[in-house]
Formats: sequence, C-alpha cells, structure tokens
Amino acid sequence: MYIFAFLSLLAVTTAFPQRRGGNRNGGGGQRTTAQQQAAQIPQGVSQAADGSTILDDTVNVNGLPIRFRVSAPADQFMAASGVQGAAATSPNGTMGINVLLHGDGGQSFFDFPNQNVQANTMGVALLAPDPNLFWGGGQGLQRTDGVAHAQAVNDFIQTELPQRVAFNNSQVFFTGVSGGSLLMSGFFIPAQMQNYPNSGVLLNCGGLPPQVDFVNAAQVMPQTTIHFQSTQSELQNLQQSIPQAVTAYEQLAAQQGLNTDQINTLQTVDNTPAGGHCEFDGQDFSSGIQVMANSYSNIVQPGGNGQVTGLGAPSNGQVRTGVVGNENLQFVGGQKRWVVPSDVRRWVVTEDP
Ligand SMILES: *[C@@H]1O[C@H](CO)[C@@H](O)[C@H](O)[C@H]1NC(C)=O
Ligand SMILES: *[C@@H]1O[C@H](CO)[C@@H](O)[C@H](O)[C@H]1NC(C)=O
Repeated sequence: MYIFAFLSLLAVTTAFPQRRGGNRNGGGGQRTTAQQQAAQIPQGVSQAADGSTILDDTVNVNGLPIRFRVSAPADQFMAASGVQGAAATSPNGTMGINVLLHGDGGQSFFDFPNQNVQANTMGVALLAPDPNLFWGGGQGLQRTDGVAHAQAVNDFIQTELPQRVAFNNSQVFFTGVSGGSLLMSGFFIPAQMQNYPNSGVLLNCGGLPPQVDFVNAAQVMPQTTIHFQSTQSELQNLQQSIPQAVTAYEQLAAQQGLNTDQINTLQTVDNTPAGGHCEFDGQDFSSGIQVMANSYSNIVQPGGNGQVTGLGAPSNGQVRTGVVGNENLQFVGGQKRWVVPSDVRRWVVTEDP
C-alpha cells in the first residue's frame, strides 16, 4: 500500500514537467501532442529557397491525415491545384520527385531540406499521421503502424500527388531520416517498392531489416539503389539494426541472383563521419541532414558519383562503399536510449524569446 502510494507520487512528479512543457503551447488542461503543435504551423503556399513554389496542405488517405509539402516550379503544379502560375494539364510530367520521410518529432518536415530542385527532381515531404509524429508509430525500433503508414505513403504518391503536381512516375526517389528510414527499410521497400521502378532510397541514420513479406523482390532488388548513411557514434540500438538491415538487403539481392559487383553498385553504406545520431556534418542534427539532402542525387540517382560535400571528418566525402564485406560497421560510443534529440522540434511555436 505505502509502496504503491509512493510509486504513484513518483509517477505524478516525473510526468509533471512533461505536461507543463506541453501546455505551454496549447493552453487548456490537456497535454498537446506533437501532432497538435504541428497543426498550429500554417499551411498554404510559400516560396522555396531556390524560388520554387511550396504547397503545404493535408489530405485524408485511407483514413489517415497526410500533411504534405510539395516544392516545384510553379508551372509544374496542376492547374486545379490553386497555385498561382500552375500550368500542368496532365499528371504525366517530365520531372522526378524525391519524397522525404522525417525522423521522430517531424523536424525535417518543417526544415524541408530537399526543397530545392536537384537533377530535375522536385522535393516532397510528408508528415507522419501519428500523435508523436513518429513514422510507423510505436517507438524505438518497434514501428507498430508501419504497414498502414507505408500504404498511406504509397497511396498518397499514386492517387493524391498526381492531382496536384505533374511528375514522371518512373522517377520517384526516397529519403528517410531516422524513424523515417525505419519505415522505409522495414515496411515501405518490401511492401511498396514494386510500384517504383528504378528508384533510389537514401536511408539516413536509421535502418531495419524488412518487417513484412517482401513483394516482388525479383523485380525490386535488381533495380533499386539503396544507400545507408550513419555516423560513428550512432544511437546504440541503431548500431545493431542498421548492420542487420544492410545484411538483410544484401541477402535479398543475392537471392535474386545478383553478383557481388551488381550488389555493390546498387547497395552502399558509410558511417565515416565522427558524430552522433544524424550529425553527418560532425556538428548538428538539422545541418547534418541538410548536408546529405544537398547531395542526394549524387548518392542514389543514376550517374551519381557518390561525392557528398560537407561531411564531418574524417570522411573523405565519398560515401558509395559497396555493402559486401562492409556490413559490420564499426561504431564508437553512442547514446543508449532512443532519444528524440533535444533540438529535434525546433519548429514548435513557443512563447520563449
Ligand atoms: C499518363 O501515362 C500513363 C502511362 O504511364 C497512361 O496510362 C495515362 O493515360 C497517361 N495520362 C495522361 C493524362 O496522359
Ligand atoms: C520518365 O522517366 C523515364 C525513366 O527515366 C524515361 O525513360 C522517360 O522518358 C521519362 N518520361 C518523360 C515524359 O520525361
């Protein structure tokens, strides 16, 4: 009885700071979720760093609210999109797209590091339909809503996006960040990649072996480029799951009859930069991801030379190391707990100066 009372008190006191932190933005008596806080950031039309037009809106897909950002030259938007200057009349466009799935908490959705057109490829970012803004829901390596979220991402690209912007559906590429990389490698690639011929996937600071049956591996494995990017001091549970993912994908390719050279051309891995989770520039979460996004075409698109500008030391900037024989990444230290880095929700509207 006394022990129970003591534990309850402990639970209340430890929960309290979190509740207070949540209340700051929302008012009212309930803790506001990350998703509710994100809803306070206005949607609409704005300008991208390279002068492209960004459309930010939400659409319901399979009962899930999918908030999206599309950054494209104005004339590539479908005339019905409402974007000023929209001129496309057919969804069959000439430009590719690079779809980004953010990490836990949604920072990269709001940073939108892939917003500039790169190699004739436009940027798209999607916000996880989850109270915590975790792609795949759940937490840590357990992404309990992975199947539904991967399906929603696919259905958004197949049915909703073409109503808003013209793109070439044979040039659809993907970028994962942390939890977004878990959804991509654990669920999306095995279940949905058959719909994206000749695609490339940049998996930043996260990886999981396939968690669901692999659909049509015979078609997907020989034509999908996958790059795993980590750092020396990655989160400890990712130090386990990223090498497991590298090994699983390599084996899938080998099972489809690909030889070592073919696998090493399609599947590459690097964790040379010294730094913590996603700190690819050796400095910081957001700036590290920006460095990778700035070079995604070099990394996973046809003709890319694998060179990334701005990686942290001692990297030499070349990240396309074939996976065969390099599955066993070497790590140093790294945080134990799966943490949402403290700076990961800089986008939150606070009353602090
Ligand atoms: C777009 O291309 C597909 C084939 O990829 C074709 O089936 C469809 O009719 C085209 N749509 C339009 C509006 O041109
Ligand atoms: C779409 O992309 C494919 C693959 O790169 C290419 O063969 C095709 O010509 C492109 N279509 C258009 C309309 O640009």
